[in-house]
Amino acid sequence: MCGIIGYAGHRPAVPVVVEGLRRLEYRGYDSAGVAFVRQDDIHVVRAMGKLAALEEKLAHESVTTPTCAMGHTRWATHGVPAERNAHPHCSNDGSLAIVHNGIIENYQTIKAELTGKGYTFTSETDTEVLVNLIAERRKTSPDLLHAFATALREAHGAYAVCLMDKNEPGVIYAARMSAPLIFGQGTGENFVASDIPAFLPYTRKVVFLQDGDLVRATASSYEILRLEDLSPVSHETQTIQWDMQAAQKGGYRHFMLKEIFEQPRVISDGLTGRMNDDKSMVRLAELDDLPVPKRLHIVACGTSYHSGLWGRLLLEHWARVPVQVEIASEFRYRDTLLLDKDDMVLVISQSGETADTLAALRIAKQNGVTVLGLCNVVGSSIAREASAVLYTQAGPEISVASTKAMCSQMLMLTLMALYWGTRKGCLSVEESRNNLQILENLPALLDGSLPAMHERAKEISRKYAQVNNFFYLGRGHCYPLALEGALKLKELSYIHAEGYAAGEMKHGPIALIDPSFPTFALALDDALLPKVKSNMVEVQARQGQVIALTNKGVELDAEDRWDIPALPGPLSAFLALPALQLFSYETADYLGKDVDQPRNLAKSVTVE
Ligand code: F6R
Repeated sequence: MCGIIGYAGHRPAVPVVVEGLRRLEYRGYDSAGVAFVRQDDIHVVRAMGKLAALEEKLAHESVTTPTCAMGHTRWATHGVPAERNAHPHCSNDGSLAIVHNGIIENYQTIKAELTGKGYTFTSETDTEVLVNLIAERRKTSPDLLHAFATALREAHGAYAVCLMDKNEPGVIYAARMSAPLIFGQGTGENFVASDIPAFLPYTRKVVFLQDGDLVRATASSYEILRLEDLSPVSHETQTIQWDMQAAQKGGYRHFMLKEIFEQPRVISDGLTGRMNDDKSMVRLAELDDLPVPKRLHIVACGTSYHSGLWGRLLLEHWARVPVQVEIASEFRYRDTLLLDKDDMVLVISQSGETADTLAALRIAKQNGVTVLGLCNVVGSSIAREASAVLYTQAGPEISVASTKAMCSQMLMLTLMALYWGTRKGCLSVEESRNNLQILENLPALLDGSLPAMHERAKEISRKYAQVNNFFYLGRGHCYPLALEGALKLKELSYIHAEGYAAGEMKHGPIALIDPSFPTFALALDDALLPKVKSNMVEVQARQGQVIALTNKGVELDAEDRWDIPALPGPLSAFLALPALQLFSYETADYLGKDVDQPRNLAKSVTVE
């Protein structure tokens, strides 16, 4: 996840591009850079860290006022955060520069071909490979447009790219495949960018580019062509009505809602580059040099802890690794930590800064065990201090309540279970392939399901918004979801909610049930469904109302039934989670609560 912008117009381009990058900084902020043509050469300025560092460097540049430029703000995928890996990247001959958001999956193969032809590389990025491939194909193409298209047809993966040629100083080229790119049509100026806010001060007229679109734009003209044959296409120009704040929320009322709806994208981004060529096995290069642990201790807080509880079932089932899951604030103060040298500790943290989780990591390291970090924020303390790190690549999560981060953590835990399972030989390649196939189809399924889920969440939340208490019940892989559903409801709407393993109800909590105390039952169509149904009947026998989150065709009796699409086994959690999130979101919004910034909470809990 990175942000890109390209500008061809009449204004001084560098300030336009830097301002645009500022509005894209939420997409990544470990380095940034710009490129423009100066005295017949491509000039690139790049800096590590936040945009301010780039601005500082630009302030010392000799004054030129190009009217065409492009820029990039980076969220590291290939290659560590470092200036040499920052974009833009140039071709060996210095004629082309490129900025890129996405992953070129077959870049190693292309790199080998180019290396054989004498190309050299100064970074570890797939992007530098791509720009040199374009330069190479230009040698045998009639023009840059054809070379650009030929190279992109060879590149597999996801990209939104912007390209400049020193011989065409007022022209930007751009293309998109499975990564966002929007064309902004101004008066005497044109833009491409990863998101609308980047150019919203200058134009409200946009074209939403489609996968396989290629653009060539100058200040006064633009054409959109199909990648496969360079035939022209015309997409409708739309006029954006939002103001800037609404635009950053992508037209959603709140960041939380936007982030819930981003989950299909989070899953497809998380899968990018993570499968072998025939999509039968998981690639997790970060783990290749580490032994499969004899025992895994997952340590985390809050929502990340719930991800760990959910992931345990998959890791034990597919990879046969015994797993213990612990709350970080408890783990760090245990007086007897029986860690074996063959154990591994996995710390899960969206922010990578949670004080208790960081302390747990340090204690585990002092005990001499390998600590793996599962983090979202690149370069965060946990990511830096862990022995190895897996990034969830969910993109910045702005709403205080965690939503898409949990989805991305669950995805990585699923991939880890498949990876270790096949590596140990306890999971067949066939089973691995089948599950990867389900995951690959998941973004489209979820994308298609979210609007109806949202509507149902609105209906049910209105009915129950006035209650003071809620139970969430689930069994097996739905138990962590019940905990998460209850956490989301209480933190957003301030309604008291308890998540319970459904089988525990009889051991005390059922005493609380009465007509004013409803229960949200996770009654998905899995092996434990008959047991959950019995628990629902027990609640109803005490006049408790039940909302059942279930699947079509399941026979059950509930005051409110909520059908979601079914998937085999635990993977159905990827569809149940957004339903729970939407229910809490809608309840809180209906009650007029501050959804994105609930009272008393902070996004990253850096104190004990
Ligand atoms: C709940 C929530 C928190 C965090 C917890 C851990 O919506 O956001 O419970 O999950 O504070 O945070 P990280 O994952 O950043 O360590």
